Amino acid sequence: MKRVITYGTFDLLHYGHINLLKRAKEHGDYLIVGLSTDEFNWNEKGKKTYFSFEKRKQLLEAIRYVDLVIPENGWDQKVTDIQNYHVDTFVMGNDWEGKFDFLANDTNAEVIYLPRTPEISTSQIKQDLNKHTK
Ligand code: CTP
Repeated sequence: MKRVITYGTFDLLHYGHINLLKRAKEHGDYLIVGLSTDEFNWNEKGKKTYFSFEKRKQLLEAIRYVDLVIPENGWDQKVTDIQNYHVDTFVMGNDWEGKFDFLANDTNAEVIYLPRTPEISTSQIKQDLNKHTK
C-alpha cells in the first residue's frame, strides 16, 4: 500500500483544499493529513483559525480522500511522521515549492508540490467577508 502525507491548517474548508486532497490521494492508496493545531497556528504561523482543531479534524475526516488525520504540533515532526507512518510520498501545494526538498534526503519519501487552485484561499475568504459586512 502506498502512503501519502500532507500538512496544513484547512480552516474554512474550501474547494482549493478539496482539489489538493483529491490530487494528493491520487499519488497513493492511503492519505494522511497532518492538521496544524490551534496552538501551532497561533504561536508559529500567527494565524487564529475560525474553526477549532476538533472541528477542522471532523470536516477532514468526512472527506472521502482522507484516511487519517494526525495533529501537526511543530515544524520538526515531518521526518518522524514519515518514518512512523511508513510514508512513500510527501505532498504540499506549490506555495511551499522547494521548502521541503530536504525530506527527500532525510527520508525515503518522494517530495511533490502540486499547483494551487487559483483565486481561492482561507485568507481571501476572510477578507472578502469583511468587505461585505457593515
Ligand atoms: N491549497 C491549494 N489551493 C488553494 C489553497 C490551498 O492547493 N487555493 C493547498 C495549500 O497549498 C496547502 C493546503 O491546501 O497544501 C492547505 O493550505 P492552507 O494554508 O490550510 O489553506 P489556504 O487557503 O492557503 O489558507 P491561508 O489563506 O490561511 O494561507
